[in-house]
Amino acid sequence: MALSLEIALKDACLKILDTNTLVRVVLSGRRRNMNVEFERIDIRPVEIKGHIWLQFSVNDGRETTVKNRGVDADAIFLLLGSGYSNILIESTEITMSIRITKQGQAHIHLENKTLKQELSHDRKKLRLLDPNDPFLLEVGIADHKGVIKPSKSDKYMQVEEFLRLLVPTLNSAIESGQIRKPTLKNPLSIVDFGCGHAYLTFGAHQFLRANGFPVVVTGIDVRQTSRDRNNSIAQKLGITSTISFRAEEIAATTAQSADVAIALHACDTATDDAIAWAVNSGAKIMLIAPCCHHDIQRQMDVAPEPWGALTRFGLMKERLGDLLTDTLRAQILRILGYRVEIIEFIGGEHTSRNLMIRAVKTDAVPVAADVNRYRQMCAEWAVTPALEKKLPTFNIG
Ligand SMILES: C[S@@+](CC[C@H](N)C(=O)[O-])C[C@H]1O[C@@H](n2cnc3c(N)ncnc32)[C@H](O)[C@@H]1O
Repeated sequence: MALSLEIALKDACLKILDTNTLVRVVLSGRRRNMNVEFERIDIRPVEIKGHIWLQFSVNDGRETTVKNRGVDADAIFLLLGSGYSNILIESTEITMSIRITKQGQAHIHLENKTLKQELSHDRKKLRLLDPNDPFLLEVGIADHKGVIKPSKSDKYMQVEEFLRLLVPTLNSAIESGQIRKPTLKNPLSIVDFGCGHAYLTFGAHQFLRANGFPVVVTGIDVRQTSRDRNNSIAQKLGITSTISFRAEEIAATTAQSADVAIALHACDTATDDAIAWAVNSGAKIMLIAPCCHHDIQRQMDVAPEPWGALTRFGLMKERLGDLLTDTLRAQILRILGYRVEIIEFIGGEHTSRNLMIRAVKTDAVPVAADVNRYRQMCAEWAVTPALEKKLPTFNIG
């Protein structure tokens, strides 16, 4: 149903102000020619000392900040009209989604759905994945009641936090034209390298499709047992047309191309294989959370002074080796025209391997300082990163 924007936003505002029934609100996307401060805003009512507040969780693409605010009709109306293109309002009996078109029209979809309010104000994050999604049971993360198994809770958190970053990254790359807007006919392709039991692979597939992203997902792992298990889960879930698995070495994969490459803890230089594949095949986005780093550590035989003061301690040498590896990976990607960020995608209590390299191809021309820094770091430490050797296009003379 198409409605005038003002009427739609007033209706949305009234639904939000009805805090007896409001479950949550999500604002995302950006309207044509408008700028928004955050990539996504989640709002939910919370009860604090007998009063209802609205809890705002705002995500700027790097991190989420949470603030509680009083219920203010004018402020909500202004926020709704401030430039977000997708507005989702869930109440206990009805779900309203508004999509604002390029022409500024509001397309509204209403669905009768029964949901429960959760007014506790602790900062427990809203779960992204539907606890009743059968994939969680099939991959062994949840039990039959949708409760996450304690032994899998760290992996589950890693997948959720990974997805929390994937979606805004995709949205902003689509909005800035770095990747095309996917359609049902021409879905976004994603490859997950070193997928193992495919918690992330299935999670990305289910979450993105549930959020209106047409995607085709491929999981690659060298182990045949993983491929067979994952393909039979996909078959059981009836999703084999949009997700599949291959038993292949990343360096020798038959996968030809993808819009997005992801990897969660692909071991050691398998991470370099994943990055190299993404570069060589023209992937526009990569989200890579590396695992163990042995390649550079093995080459750090003689430390350039005064770094010997640090490398004399094995533990410190190992950590420095990790940092050098990811710094050199990031530097190579910058030189190849990617915008690169290194972020902590999850708190250290869930995994010590909590860095993520997020790279988006912008084709920016590399600056001489970046090339020189790379050269100098490699020369001083007398190392050649595995990634460099896997990239025929990396030629800095
Ligand atoms: C630590 S597990 C992570 C699995 C999964 N991504 C997760 O987070 O649960 C690493 C996976 O990478 C796979 N792997 C390691 N080296 C590989 C390579 N060169 N090619 C393909 N898969 C590889 C392993 O078989 C293993 O399943």
